[in-house]
Amino acid sequence: MSLTAFSFPTRTLFGVGAIQELPSHLARLGVRRPLVVTDPGLVSTDAFRALTALLGPAGCNREWFLFGQVHPNPIEDDVRLAAALMREKGCDGVIAFGGGSPLDAGKAARLLAKSPGFPLARFYDEPADWTGLAPLIAIPTTAGTGSEVGRSSVITLDATKRKAVLFHPELLAKLVILDPELTVGLPPKLTAATGADALTHCLESYTCPAFHPMCDGIALEGIRLIVDALPRAFRHGADLDARGKMLVAAAMGAVAFQKDLGVVHSLAHPLSTLCGMHHGTANALCLVAGMRFCAARQPGLYRRVGLACDLDVLRCTDPEADQRTIEFMARFLADLGLAGRLRDFGAKPELLEALTAQAWEDPCHKTNAVPVTRDDLRALYAELL
Ligand SMILES: [Fe+2]
Repeated sequence: MSLTAFSFPTRTLFGVGAIQELPSHLARLGVRRPLVVTDPGLVSTDAFRALTALLGPAGCNREWFLFGQVHPNPIEDDVRLAAALMREKGCDGVIAFGGGSPLDAGKAARLLAKSPGFPLARFYDEPADWTGLAPLIAIPTTAGTGSEVGRSSVITLDATKRKAVLFHPELLAKLVILDPELTVGLPPKLTAATGADALTHCLESYTCPAFHPMCDGIALEGIRLIVDALPRAFRHGADLDARGKMLVAAAMGAVAFQKDLGVVHSLAHPLSTLCGMHHGTANALCLVAGMRFCAARQPGLYRRVGLACDLDVLRCTDPEADQRTIEFMARFLADLGLAGRLRDFGAKPELLEALTAQAWEDPCHKTNAVPVTRDDLRALYAELL
């Protein structure tokens, strides 16, 4: 029998107003000079003002510094410049604040602050010194990637111009603060797209064949929460109950996908790198076709997903259970404005071969519920474009 490691280690503080606890946790972690890592779009938001109000003016027993230049898809320079600022200012901790990009850049900056010359392009070849890294507090302002509870950081490397997944347990945050009030300003379109990313994480991790019943349970409950809360968060952005459930569900999706993901993420990644499509939108537009592809080869795969969506699929045949669940998902996404052809959302049909080549190189489809060939990927794109 093979051995499997189960790990759910991140301390998470959840609730409306949870951010008010930040100062006491900075003190608990011994952080007196934190660097706030975020992106330019966030610094003018109410969420950011809530953070800075808590950190207070510099100089009263604590100083804090800001790196607010993280790109939408973080690049090596984001990590390097944030790390250089940490060293210059003597920062002893990082507060990563925002969507997945600032969180990923903030995670990795701690490594380069400790070892400035470390080559990120050779992350898996060069031994890194992970001891004594500055602690990270992750505060998401979107409910999608779940990067706050992940132990990886996705950075576009200078050398290859492609996204690399840097994975290490020491990248984990010491504390995650999930405060629904910080996400109420997220516009409906982004609420839908980021929420669809979380939904895809739950769906693909649940159907990934690896043995991990704990993640399976978390993924199914994440689906139940998203089906209930995402339409409400989309229509009524100030619904704190819906916003809170989405934040938790996004974190659950990311916890679950330590099991791995599937073909939908392999289709989605090139749509972002080659066509600039939002990652969540790309997942949403590929999800139903991906589910049909998997269900045709493994009937019954989505019965328990259907049950999590409160559908009456307990006693019907396997193909019927799949069909009802897939039809439900198609309607669910369409109601969020996430239906249509890829070309309507910025994809270029003439890139079919380039998209196929990148999707084939992407590792996610290797852990899909059913085997995927290069021709399958091309056929799926051809159907979707
Ligand atoms: Fe994703």
